[in-house]
Amino acid sequence: MKILVTGGTGYIGSNTVVLLLKAGYEVVICDNLYNSQIEVVDKIKKVTGKEVAFYKTDILDREGLDKIFNEHKIDAVIHFAGLKAVGESVAKPLFYYHNNIEGTLALCEVMAAHGCKSIVFSSSATVYGKPESVPIREDFPLSTTNPYGSTKLMIEQILQDLYVSDNEWNITILRYFNPIGADETGTFGENPNGIPNNLMPYIVKVANKELPHLNVFGNDYDTVDGTGVRDYIHVVDLANGHLKALDKLNGVNIYNLGTGNGYSVLQLVKAFEEQNGIEVPYVIAPRRPGDIAECYADPAKAYNELGWKAERDVVDMVKSAWNFCVKNFK
Ligand code: NAD
Ligand code: UFG
Repeated sequence: MKILVTGGTGYIGSNTVVLLLKAGYEVVICDNLYNSQIEVVDKIKKVTGKEVAFYKTDILDREGLDKIFNEHKIDAVIHFAGLKAVGESVAKPLFYYHNNIEGTLALCEVMAAHGCKSIVFSSSATVYGKPESVPIREDFPLSTTNPYGSTKLMIEQILQDLYVSDNEWNITILRYFNPIGADETGTFGENPNGIPNNLMPYIVKVANKELPHLNVFGNDYDTVDGTGVRDYIHVVDLANGHLKALDKLNGVNIYNLGTGNGYSVLQLVKAFEEQNGIEVPYVIAPRRPGDIAECYADPAKAYNELGWKAERDVVDMVKSAWNFCVKNFK
């Protein structure tokens, strides 16, 4: 089978492409390199010993997409391409709606024109807004608190409408919780430009002495130690969920991809310090606007229907995140 991976040079995309190639799939990557580097393609080839076709194409470019589908018989698409920074989406909503929504519309139109009607889409736990309880099941109420989240929720709706209009589509929507860590070779990790928004890349930059200390956003939540609790999931487990989803594409389905376990900010910091033997200085800062106290998945549906569950623990997550830094930035 030949899979088109949009956003395939990005953080989750590159980890997924590696697993696809190792599992014997043929892979075509389409990425405009807005948030990733061309070097990733060679790294994928080196780690897997396999060939991968790469197109520096924007998913908004219908002609560019058409060319890919003319040159390859694509069986299914895994659609990672998108912008993902919550704060930036508040400042630049039109940029986010344009890129994420228009891009997905263009992609689906070109897919349909070429008779390719199978897609796995990257959604997010952000579509649960402020959940009334945890663990979060797929049938919980949906809402969003920022334009980024709204693009995910709107795309989910668009894809479901598409299925209603044409039952030949097979659509799997995966709602990721908090992916962290890197592959075992330390090649495919997360290295955002500038000051990171997310916790794990921030911890790594503090550990690497690029930033003086971590700001812990609030220690007065109703949680185990007062700091925010999230469902951190190893990026390789998450990537593996896409292979399971591909296997079972059938109609329209939605799955949480999380571990089902919550870790607080301070628990993650402690695990990182203990496992890597490095101190991570922190100060308690005010709550970050829009944050919720606790967010973790009920991952039972993915286990029951896809046969997928997360296998790597928090030790693997914090060690691999640091290993990626050591291999690439020290
Ligand atoms: P990433 O930024 O590393 O990867 C996304 C890739 O898409 C980048 O390589 C970027 O260059 C590319 N891209 C963006 N717009 C494009 C366009 N118009 N045309 C072609 N390529 C384009 O992000 P990631 O962390 O790997 O996330 C992948 C997907 O998963 C995104 O859709 C993101 O919203 C979603 N997601 C991520 C997280 C997370 O915490 N990382 C959580 C939930 C959902
Ligand atoms: N945090 C800090 N200091 C920091 C960064 C984060 O204390 O410098 C805390 C946050 O307050 C929160 C926890 O660490 O309690 C996790 O924060 P992240 O920013 O890493 O992750 P979020 O859960 O806020 O959001 C992320 C993505 C969203 C996505 C969501 C679920 O940014 O887009 O995971 O997948 F929707």
